[in-house]
Amino acid sequence: MKALVLSGGAGTRLRPITHTSAKQLVPVANKPVLFYGLEAIRDAGITDVGIIVGDTRAEIEAAVGDGSALGIRATYIPQEAPLGLAHCVLIARDFLGDDDFVMYLGDNFIIGGITDLVEEFARCGADAQILLTKVDNPQQFGIAELDGEGRVVRLVEKPTNPKSDLALVGVYMFRPPIHEAVRAIKPSARGELEITDAIQWLVDHGYDVRSHFVSGYWKDTGRLEDMLECNRKVLEGIEPACHGRLDAESRIIGRVVIEEGAVIERSTVRGPAIIGRGTRIVDSYVGPFTSIYHDCLLERTEIEHSIILESTKIVGVSRIEDSLIGKEVEVSLSSTLPKAHRLMLGDHSKVSLAF
Ligand code: G1P
Repeated sequence: MKALVLSGGAGTRLRPITHTSAKQLVPVANKPVLFYGLEAIRDAGITDVGIIVGDTRAEIEAAVGDGSALGIRATYIPQEAPLGLAHCVLIARDFLGDDDFVMYLGDNFIIGGITDLVEEFARCGADAQILLTKVDNPQQFGIAELDGEGRVVRLVEKPTNPKSDLALVGVYMFRPPIHEAVRAIKPSARGELEITDAIQWLVDHGYDVRSHFVSGYWKDTGRLEDMLECNRKVLEGIEPACHGRLDAESRIIGRVVIEEGAVIERSTVRGPAIIGRGTRIVDSYVGPFTSIYHDCLLERTEIEHSIILESTKIVGVSRIEDSLIGKEVEVSLSSTLPKAHRLMLGDHSKVSLAF
């Protein structure tokens, strides 16, 4: 069995972060979202992994490399434009050959892995297996309609008037008939070859498509709120550890991970939280559900329920909550008169100031 991981896409809902970075590399508890998926695939015993990449190819390749650090063998498959999930299967034909495969959307986040699902699919004789979960906003997903016996009868991509609230989760399992399906379908109204339509094609042509309910936590990490929620979920389960340095005037409360070379001076860190390697926290308060990536500086700052990417400096700011701050950002308090907010923000930035 092989895996096909989709790691292209523009990530428009996470701008401006995604103007310069891949959405799949935004860290959750200091690990890129994509790595959780790759680890779940590896834990399911799959090592041959094709990764579909788009404009952010260089960055994804720099992070994943040949995959050996994650215990997989990565093959990169470039997609010239985001032409749909079924298009990814189309261009991965040579890589996939006639093997069964799991298709995994690189921005999806599942707690509990996919091992059981992969084993179940290997045992059953189905041609495809989809994962479903109940959602409150079915208009934003591919939606499945089941018959009385739980068989998939209809799949609709982002329906205006949804007939069910069962969304397709971004993990799919296929056998070779999917290749005929992706060749047969036409682009949707949004101009993409939809995997939903390809699976519908399988159903219409008498193939056995089964569904499986996701019992645990799943999230499509498209938006800031989703990233913060995943971050909360992972931090809730972290094992406290201190690999950095803490002075006598600092306090660590609850589940906190301090990575190698991090320094905490005259500060309080109330977990669950993670402080990245080489980061310095000075005269500051870091509150629950905060992940600070590596080589950052926080000085005279209070922060809570936020994700900070690498090499960012925040000095004299009280207080930051519910925020996602990119790499090498500087946020500081104005010390010169006239007292004013001085901003240099990238396109699509969002700032909410408190007085
Ligand atoms: C894609 C699929 C959709 C599925 C969703 C899960 O949507 O097209 O059927 O429910 O992923 O994350 P997209 O993220 O491309 O809007």
